[in-house]
Amino acid sequence: MRFPDGFVWGVSSSAYQIEGAAAEDGRGPSIWDTFSHAPGRIADGSTGDEACDHYHRHAEDVGLMKGLGLRAYRFSVSWSRVLPDGAGKVNAAGLDFYERLTDDLLGQGIAPYATLYHWDLPQALEDRGGWPSRDTAERFAGYAAAVHERLGDRVDTWFTINEPWVASFLGYAAGTHAPGRRSAAEAFRSAHHMLLAHGLAAGVLREAGARRIGVALNLSPVLTPGQLGDQDQELTPEDAGAVSRIDALLNRQFLDPMLRGSYPPELLEVVERHAGLDHVRDGDLDLIARPIDVLGVNYYAPHVVQAQPSRPGEPAFPGSEGVLFAATPGPATAMGWPIVPSGLTVLLRRLAADHPGLDLMVTENGADFGDGSRDADRVAFIEAHVRAAHAAISDGVRLRGFLAWTLMDNFEWADGYRRKFGLVHVDFATQRRTERDSARWFREVIARNGLPAAPRPTLETVAARAGVSRATVSRVVNGEASVRPEVRARVQAAVEELGYVPNQAARSLVTRRTGTVALVLSGPRHDNAALVSAVVQYVTSVLEASGRQVRLMLADSERSHRRVLAQAEGRHVDGMILLPPDHPDPLAERLAATDVPLVLLGGPVVAVDEAGGGAAVGRHLRELGCARPAVLTGPGAAAGERVRGFLEVFPEAEVSGDAGRLLAGRLNPMRPDAVFAVTDALALEVLGIAREVGLRVPEDLAVAGFGDGEAGRHTLPALTTVAVPVTDLALALARSLLSALDGQPVAPSVLPVRLEVRGSTVSGGR
Ligand code: FCB
Repeated sequence: MRFPDGFVWGVSSSAYQIEGAAAEDGRGPSIWDTFSHAPGRIADGSTGDEACDHYHRHAEDVGLMKGLGLRAYRFSVSWSRVLPDGAGKVNAAGLDFYERLTDDLLGQGIAPYATLYHWDLPQALEDRGGWPSRDTAERFAGYAAAVHERLGDRVDTWFTINEPWVASFLGYAAGTHAPGRRSAAEAFRSAHHMLLAHGLAAGVLREAGARRIGVALNLSPVLTPGQLGDQDQELTPEDAGAVSRIDALLNRQFLDPMLRGSYPPELLEVVERHAGLDHVRDGDLDLIARPIDVLGVNYYAPHVVQAQPSRPGEPAFPGSEGVLFAATPGPATAMGWPIVPSGLTVLLRRLAADHPGLDLMVTENGADFGDGSRDADRVAFIEAHVRAAHAAISDGVRLRGFLAWTLMDNFEWADGYRRKFGLVHVDFATQRRTERDSARWFREVIARNGLPAAPRPTLETVAARAGVSRATVSRVVNGEASVRPEVRARVQAAVEELGYVPNQAARSLVTRRTGTVALVLSGPRHDNAALVSAVVQYVTSVLEASGRQVRLMLADSERSHRRVLAQAEGRHVDGMILLPPDHPDPLAERLAATDVPLVLLGGPVVAVDEAGGGAAVGRHLRELGCARPAVLTGPGAAAGERVRGFLEVFPEAEVSGDAGRLLAGRLNPMRPDAVFAVTDALALEVLGIAREVGLRVPEDLAVAGFGDGEAGRHTLPALTTVAVPVTDLALALARSLLSALDGQPVAPSVLPVRLEVRGSTVSGGR
């Protein structure tokens, strides 16, 4: 992504936020000195007395700028350093400082951009009425002349006033900025006088031969919550009215007089209501509309509003009655400002459409993201806005530059030093400056005159994004079938998102098939030797018939788990079948996290109808007339399912994990007449206890198990139990694995079970 030749990359700053040296070399106080020294005005109780001590460290700071490769640096001149009383005698020492600074900048090939007013009105002028007084605008023209006289041959671009909306409405209406007054009338008068000051200064500068003249406005698209998601959304008349009013107050109050020579009529109504119109004199608008060469756009976030008739006005927006300033969903900076980069494109396009032929420049954009120096957030923020600016340029917008806010952490007005907007971190105890990642990133942007090509995604990047191994990425890229559908989808999503183009290496990293599958017997299943042996027998024969070898692995200890996992992760086998133990066991989960095709007994693919088996036992006992059945349960998910099935038939059955308690009369007055044990092994235990306590099976106590193990067939009486169709099960496992290896979808199967009725429930039973 390249920018036009000559595109200006730079940073902006302001005097009071960085200079310090508040009382040095004859500087007079400004309204921000007064305001920050008054108790309770600044969030952290700080002042700009020292700030970044830039007054003394400007050479070092220009060195930092040089290191970044900046083409331009927009700083502001402190009015009360130049004119300590706001007017009258010029303080040469104050101008000396700016001369040193501009010379330094020019020496390093950085174009000096000077802002004449960034909010620090000389206190002497505030004392004589401040911006609500017309006199201040006239004084400003004198000040502009004095600065131009000394620096005019060096300054590349002049910005008259920075963000007059903030200075007038936060300073004179909301009172959250200096001078902290709260009067809608004074705010509107201030705004007009700042416009006038701009026009008068622009005239003075033009006459004196200034190279390029502009102004820096805080501008924001005003949107409804709905428009945030869909720019073209139709608005209700009420919402359209709310949007238009706030846009008039925030944007057009300044744009229209400066660029069209008129106030928006709907704004004039509001002004008249709050302040009258006496302060707007004939001829003012012609002065204000003196032509400028560049419009500076400070963009941080949109304003999101909607009509809400009952709302009182916002203090910063006198005239905003009936408008709700809505919360913006989605990401925000540490300052809480919503992150909406597309707002910059919208704004720039609109300015270009409304004021064709005018050069634009982003004169501020940046974000507070806290103190850290690995500031990926800030990089992402500025990058997104640089992209948004580029999008506007592609549409033909005459955007000439992008100045980030700001070089280094500084005094962020009413928030003090808590807010961090710097590309460079400042340790205020030592004044040490340290580049953040964002500074390094910006250096690259400048060097390339565009965004650094995102590092070309590699196999590793894709693997990391998808959370799989490189081999898996390679398999997906090469269209191999053996990757599970979820994993394949993840990889494909990552490939698309990162724009990965498989290279030769990826193409040639085609995985070897090993021709081997593992059959893993995890933990003891002693009650089901028949199942295990059937699975071993059938899985082996089915898979071997398909030309594969079967590796039998036992996984009954942590160490053997690791061995099995290593086989899967290293893809030493093409697939695995796991028979988990009848107690909870982490191996299945760990294997599922690898990308080896896995078929798990009891998993989603091959399962046994456990609950159906429990219910079959229940129905059988009910038919026999049992009235007080009990359930002897054990560990594992299957046991839980079996119990659940049984309780569907016998909701009143007592459930216990303690065979002795269930059967010893003294302990259990309930005296069950039947016990359903969730495994054959437990059922054998019940038979033993029954014998000990003198209960006859099945006359006094019917007993049933689950699993149809070998042992139950040889007890006296033989055990009634639920038979799992081991052959079907083994075949289902083997077939599922074959499908998975071929990349076929695997249809889940729940295998039916069968009740085997024997002597432990029915005398004379088989
Ligand atoms: C802008 C101001 C600038 C700084 C940034 C964060 O409104 O112009 O001084 O405070 O916001």
